Amino acid sequence: MDRIRITGGKKLNGVIPISGAKNAALPLMIASLLTEDDLTLLNVPRLSDVSNLRRILGNHGVDIMIAGKRNGDDPLSGANVRLSARSISDTTAPYELVSTMRASFWVLGPLLARMGEAKVSLPGGCAIGTRPVDFLLMALERLGAKIDIENGYAVAKAPSGGLKGAEIDFPKVTVGGTHTALMAASLANGTTVIHNAAREPEVVDLADCLVKMGARISGAGTSTIEIKGVPHLRGTHHAVVADRIEAGTYAMCVAMAGGDVVLQGVKTNLLQSAFDVLTEAGVNIEQTNKGVRVSRNGNGLKPVNITTDPFPGFPTDLQAQLMGLVTLADGTSKITETIFENRFMHVAELSRLGAKIHLDGQSATIEGVPKLKGAPVMATDLRASVSLVIAGLAAEGDTTISRVYHLDRGFEQLEAKLAGCGAEIERITG
Ligand code: EPZ
Repeated sequence: MDRIRITGGKKLNGVIPISGAKNAALPLMIASLLTEDDLTLLNVPRLSDVSNLRRILGNHGVDIMIAGKRNGDDPLSGANVRLSARSISDTTAPYELVSTMRASFWVLGPLLARMGEAKVSLPGGCAIGTRPVDFLLMALERLGAKIDIENGYAVAKAPSGGLKGAEIDFPKVTVGGTHTALMAASLANGTTVIHNAAREPEVVDLADCLVKMGARISGAGTSTIEIKGVPHLRGTHHAVVADRIEAGTYAMCVAMAGGDVVLQGVKTNLLQSAFDVLTEAGVNIEQTNKGVRVSRNGNGLKPVNITTDPFPGFPTDLQAQLMGLVTLADGTSKITETIFENRFMHVAELSRLGAKIHLDGQSATIEGVPKLKGAPVMATDLRASVSLVIAGLAAEGDTTISRVYHLDRGFEQLEAKLAGCGAEIERITG
């Protein structure tokens, strides 16, 4: 298993290109199931989650070409991925595949809408929380599906005339629920209105692509989305939106290590809440025509007090990174997690580097310390692992992170991007 070694204390200077968003690329790839035509996605990141989804879609009969090659290696950075679901050969998504990545459960909506039936394994629990799928099932049931849970699978059937438009009111904002409802309702008969819809940029990106495919969607990016179902969708070309979580993560790397870096290809409006928090912490953030410039030179970090929330609030996917950053703030910070019940696995590992963090239920109080000291630490999930990278960039001596396969799920060329700006970071293979 690979490890990453960081020798702390180097400032970051230069340019970091921001990749296409993992959390947009995944639902966009799944949307290929909705049409017989080719869907070509540009700017798809090279990540293990993308490779896993490739296998899952391949199992349904989707033909996938990456940078012009079929069954080639993982996509090159920013590769074009052409997905052709001309015919769906299998409407079952087996446990062995779904359990590798939760988002693959989202194939249920499009398979049901196009084929009238689907059998998809329930994904089970996850390191950051129980993460149920009840809202997704409820949304499809509102569209007329009959769903039974049998032997760990959701077995779904559409009514004989196909799914029917309906009012869907989510009790809590759900990104996956909104993606599912958007995709299924696009091919339903009649009009669907999603209330309390997720407003995340990745939802807007999916809606934009579906509209290019012929869907009739309005209101994406607000909490009420209306979808007028159409009988068929067609193929299109679509560039995946920039990864705001990757951008926010590198912004925190610069904030931690000090220096001056342009995050290329991203705009502040994708991540205003996090940039506002960084500004409050004493980091300079500036929109330039090349991207977002992040700098901190000399001045100390101020403590912050944040609560995670759905977009446009502070994202749960940056909570661990912010915690890593404020371990060195001049004062006491408070971070409250409201989205997932078990998203504090990084606390114990950050403590191994000398951080002073006290957990009380869903809130963490972080008392800033003057310095961290490098140590061997273990990655526990995607975002938790990168908080250790952030801490390692400023820790005295070497920090070695094991189980970096978590990082490879969501950060494309992390070591190369940081090393390119002067960080002393290397991957130790094997
Ligand atoms: C998406 O997960 C993201 N994943 C997550 O990113 C992200 O943390 C999350 O949205 C919140 O922003 C992808 O896009 C692939 P939700 P999702 O449905 O859709 C509860 C990362 O690190 N809920 O918005 O699964 C749920 O438990 C990941 O990249 C139900 O109760 O999240 C949570 O408390 C991790 N029942 C809340 O809603 C349901 O049926 C929001 O979850 C569905 C969700």
